[in-house]
Amino acid sequence: MQAARVSAPSGARSTVVEVVPSGKACGAEVRGVDLVNLTAAMFDGIRQAVYDHQVVVVRGQPIDDPQLIALGKRFGELEPPGMSIIGKPYIDAYPDVLVISNIIEDGQPKGNLGAGEAIWHTDMSYRDVPVSYAILHALELPPVGGNTYFSNQYLACDTLPAATRSALDGKMIIHDESYNSGGQLRKGFKEVSDPREAPGARHPVFRVHPATGRKALYLGRRRNAYILGLPLDESEALLDELWAHASRPEFTWGHEWKLGDTLIWDNRCLVHRRDPFDASQRRMMHRVQVRGERPQ
Ligand code: OGA
Ligand code: MN
Repeated sequence: MQAARVSAPSGARSTVVEVVPSGKACGAEVRGVDLVNLTAAMFDGIRQAVYDHQVVVVRGQPIDDPQLIALGKRFGELEPPGMSIIGKPYIDAYPDVLVISNIIEDGQPKGNLGAGEAIWHTDMSYRDVPVSYAILHALELPPVGGNTYFSNQYLACDTLPAATRSALDGKMIIHDESYNSGGQLRKGFKEVSDPREAPGARHPVFRVHPATGRKALYLGRRRNAYILGLPLDESEALLDELWAHASRPEFTWGHEWKLGDTLIWDNRCLVHRRDPFDASQRRMMHRVQVRGERPQ
């Protein structure tokens, strides 16, 4: 079922929480909330800030896995993460928690994505019903690097040349499942030599956000993507052009992590990426994700 459209005249903004916009094309800090004892008014304020700014940060509030899970459940039903690179949940007691980490202990990776760059992507769009929100919490951080950037795909959609927009209207893209955004082949998947045969969901190039009613460009990730119905070389050239547009610096905002920070973002209207960092340093993040709806 579709969520009701949220009407949000500025007078209806929460008076409980303080929302400090980043001043960039997306992103805001939410102050005045207690993530462990979140009242209904605080939650409403956070969710409205996510609708308005697509991604928000709550700074310096360490939370444990049960608290992270409880926070995620305020937004909806949790979705178990995609297949980890070790082929099973990283935390047996909390299979809904995805660990993002470069740490390796006894030869066993403690999390996904390593220490390299994670390329621009939206989370789990290779599923027919992708996730709506992702909530990422910092437990250990390297001294430099590993920052996370977001690009506003409402703006990317609104600023596409009219001819490109109408040429793409009604077209579908294959969202490859075989590789994660860190370039790691997921457990149980084979290398893809022809994007037209990539495993993964097919979604419309544009989607309308069920709560805000705004239209966003919805590309997923570049690797092994394919625009259905086009000759492969045309699809490749157009996808390169679309990604250059989707990640234009004027649509973006970056977060420099501090311990205890929590980012909450909406995967229906953003793409994100992560900087690499020194592989000899430790970075440990825990994430939960919320079930969304079929893009349309
Ligand atoms: C994610 C992700 C980026 C990061 O959790 O979906 O892409 O900063 N992580 O680790
Ligand atoms: Mn991600």
